[in-house]
Amino acid sequence: MRSPSIPVCVLVVALLSVSACQKSPVAAVIPAIASTPAPTPVPAAPPFQLEASIQELMDAVIDPAADALWDSVSITQTAKGTVFHQPHTDEEWREARRHAIALIEGTNLLIMNGRRLVAPGSTVLDQGTSGVLSAEEGAKVFEAKHATFVELARALRDAGEQMLASIDKKDSTGMMNAGAAMDGICESCHLTFWYPNQVIPPLPDDFGASKSASKPKRIPLSP
Ligand code: HEC
Repeated sequence: MRSPSIPVCVLVVALLSVSACQKSPVAAVIPAIASTPAPTPVPAAPPFQLEASIQELMDAVIDPAADALWDSVSITQTAKGTVFHQPHTDEEWREARRHAIALIEGTNLLIMNGRRLVAPGSTVLDQGTSGVLSAEEGAKVFEAKHATFVELARALRDAGEQMLASIDKKDSTGMMNAGAAMDGICESCHLTFWYPNQVIPPLPDDFGASKSASKPKRIPLSP
């Protein structure tokens, strides 16, 4: 004969647990959690700390590195003929390599988020000269055309890589080509963000016609 107490007991336990579930505060909270959007993770503070403006990086890193590279390989016409200048000793090649590394990595510094064009309170070199943007105007162009800035910084990095590869092959012609590419990129960026409105005075009409020794020389703009 079956004992009637077992089903009754099961029924009581089942009823108790159903009612317990209905009243449970946990059960009321679950749908609320499901519909709450996941909290946006707070971005971790970057491990680096920006110190210099783009202007200061130009002055401290990009310009000295580029000048040293341009100086390390050149062709000069002298009274005695053409003089080629290039690294010869291992130390000279190592020195050129150091400058190429500084230039390449310097371009990464230029494009780090949060980098300012000019330190607060500073002015742009030659500010006030016709065609040169003020620090405020430059900052606006920098913000509006940031993608162009990044593209040109990357182009400079690529020219720097070309320079480094030529140094590693001890290829002075390759270095000259890379140096010429660098020069064009410096100028493109400066024409966009530094002196976009510069006016280059036209050469006199008779330029080149006169054989006089006092003929004016056209001096290339420094980058
Ligand atoms: C991606 C853009 C960019 C590239 C590439 C670039 N520059 Fe600049 N450079 C600037 C800007 C912008 C300024 C103006 C900032 C200022 O002086 O306020 C500047 C300013 C300078 C200055 C003046 C710094 C000072 O003391 O005020 C020098 C020198 C300079 N650049 C050299 C170079 C050389 C050399 C190269 C190429 C090897 C180069 N730059 C490539 C953006 C660039």
